[in-house]
Amino acid sequence: MNEFLCSHIKTFALFAPFTKFVIYNSNMIEIRQKLETLREEIRQHNYHYHVLDAPIISDGEYDRLLHELKAIEAEHPEWITPDSPSQRAGAPPADKFDKVQHPGPILSLANAFGADDAFAWFERVAKLDERVRDANFTVEPKIDGLSVVLHYRDGIFVQGATRGDGEIGEDITANLRTIKAIPLKIPVGESREKKEENSQISLFSGDQSLVSNSLIPNYLVVRGEVFITYEDFDALNKGLEEAGKKTYLNPRNTAAGALRQLDSSITAQRPLTLLIYQIVHAEGGEVPNSQWERLNYLRELGFPVSVDSRNFDNIEETVKYCENWEEKRDQLPYEADGIVIKIDDLELSDDLGIVGKDPRGATAYKFPSLEVTTTLNDINVEVGRTGVLTPKAVLEPIEINGVIVRNATLHNFDFIAEKDIRIGDRVLVKRAGEVIPYIIASITETRSGQERPYFPPKKCPACEQPVEHIEGEVAWYCVNAACPAQLIRNIQHFVSRGAMDIVGLGIKIVEQLVEENLLGDVADLYTLEREKLLELEGFKEKKADNLLNAIAVSKIQTLARLLTGLGIRGVGESVAADLTNNFADLDALRAATQDNLEAIEGIGPNIATAIVDWFLLPFNQQILGKLRDAGLNPSGQVSVASDQPSVFSGLTFVITGTLPTMSRTEAKEFIQSHGGKVTGSVSKKTDYLLAGEKAGSKLTKAEGLGVKTISEDDLREMSV
Ligand code: IVH
Repeated sequence: MNEFLCSHIKTFALFAPFTKFVIYNSNMIEIRQKLETLREEIRQHNYHYHVLDAPIISDGEYDRLLHELKAIEAEHPEWITPDSPSQRAGAPPADKFDKVQHPGPILSLANAFGADDAFAWFERVAKLDERVRDANFTVEPKIDGLSVVLHYRDGIFVQGATRGDGEIGEDITANLRTIKAIPLKIPVGESREKKEENSQISLFSGDQSLVSNSLIPNYLVVRGEVFITYEDFDALNKGLEEAGKKTYLNPRNTAAGALRQLDSSITAQRPLTLLIYQIVHAEGGEVPNSQWERLNYLRELGFPVSVDSRNFDNIEETVKYCENWEEKRDQLPYEADGIVIKIDDLELSDDLGIVGKDPRGATAYKFPSLEVTTTLNDINVEVGRTGVLTPKAVLEPIEINGVIVRNATLHNFDFIAEKDIRIGDRVLVKRAGEVIPYIIASITETRSGQERPYFPPKKCPACEQPVEHIEGEVAWYCVNAACPAQLIRNIQHFVSRGAMDIVGLGIKIVEQLVEENLLGDVADLYTLEREKLLELEGFKEKKADNLLNAIAVSKIQTLARLLTGLGIRGVGESVAADLTNNFADLDALRAATQDNLEAIEGIGPNIATAIVDWFLLPFNQQILGKLRDAGLNPSGQVSVASDQPSVFSGLTFVITGTLPTMSRTEAKEFIQSHGGKVTGSVSKKTDYLLAGEKAGSKLTKAEGLGVKTISEDDLREMSV
């Protein structure tokens, strides 16, 4: 038997040790080989997307690979292994979780509140052991998520558990398996060189590989934190709100609920991710003895590790780094309640011992709390674009992390009833990251008796028409198509930066134009008369001309922007862009069937139905007719104008932060119109990071990868 066959039969023996003995013909060998190649490729793409946050193929290409893999596995179910990337959809629902004994105690941390406390911790431990004075420190964000413990045997993810009481946790393997940032397979035993021979794309980079110099343990237990980023949380809630469904209260609770689901197919639908920060146990190999090296080692094995971790050789710089993060905590993409300071030498750290459940060798530098109490002065009801009524808290103004908070979300009317929140109550409010401040609960102990219970309105506060409740939904709707509040929100959305971008048409003017009956729908913007505007309060010639000018200029906006502006449920900027790739103009889209739409990558049945329904409504058909009469009939993609040479051709840009004059959409279109490409995340393939104010983790990442950062001015200069 030749070498090739030998090695493959060996692979079969490795991957399918329990399957019946089968004589494979050469076709089978090829299919099996294809299967392994696909698995390895998909693993690498998962790693690039979920760990490095830098995908190298499109979602469509990824889906095609996964589809191909699943097709082979459907033909050969005997080849399915637990580490196959296809095995993330979720297992059958469980009755309860089994208990798992952790291989070592899963410890907690003592807190240090501010710099003085952190220095006091240092002095305390330095008095116990003088070696601490010369120690290095590793710092890591203290993510406010859920601690989990992951077991790998012979490189395969075999079990995952919650922290539980620190000794015994709950077996949530099926749920954890659905989190794509968790590698289902890691290298084992072999050296780096050997591993690279067998792998298509190298995980190990640089000459200083820690993995290359030692035997990777065949039993490895690691610990990390599961969480949801602010961005994913917002997107999740936006979708639910548009669908009239109950929104989630905060990222942490949502992540906790998803992890403890008995039905893992539900967990699979939540945008959970994680970062790993500890090796709990290692057998049959060696791991480094310094926390900093361990983080790098874990990264080399393919685990996601925080890019904001650092190593310092003195406590002063360590504390300075913590203070720095305290100021810019909002720039982290997830909620962190502090920075963990760890003595880097883990032997020294172990020698210092444990107090209760807290190791002496580490401490949590805590940020000030983002939860404050204030008085709920009133509850206002806002009417959204789709008619959904949302209760908003009117608060006694209060500062949270440098921002004065006056309003907060109360989620929905059920929340107010369930939590028995009354007007006049003291309430607990939280503001974290970019998430809108929200009410957590009322403090009933301090009630004076003057507080008033709240009942949802029976009539729309804007148009006085009766409100409706759809069975099975949490939302209350104003269903009056002529409701001025809905109209105002619709127009506000139509003129917004991401849509038609009509500069100078703020909410106050929109309200004024609707109140004066000059606008009955978005198309009326294009037939506004100068004389009528001049009759309005506050309108002089210059203001009227500027407004009419801005409206006229918007007529040449792209099809994608017009589609975004129409406010069809589920059609935001990215879906609108997908649609323009598939339909030449509005007529073509209007003729599309549910099936045509569902065939487009990224468009599911709900969005497809929303689009079809939108075009069927006579009111909307009338709007389209009026828009066309006004000269708006865009078609196709943003094209490279002939007088603008493709100076950015072949270059890839990422945009972050707030730019001085351009919106991100404008910057994107500017780059595209000069032949460049814009992607969402920084990778080695990025040529330029276009950064504005408050640039967060993308900037740090670009710096780390040596990607050149440019300003809006630089961009303009480069384009001429
Ligand atoms: S180390 C000895 N590192 O914070 C190891 N914990 O308040 C002790 N946490 O239970 C934990 N990020 O759930 C550590 N980078 C990090 C962390 C972290 C978040 C959580 C963890 C722990 C809690 C302690």
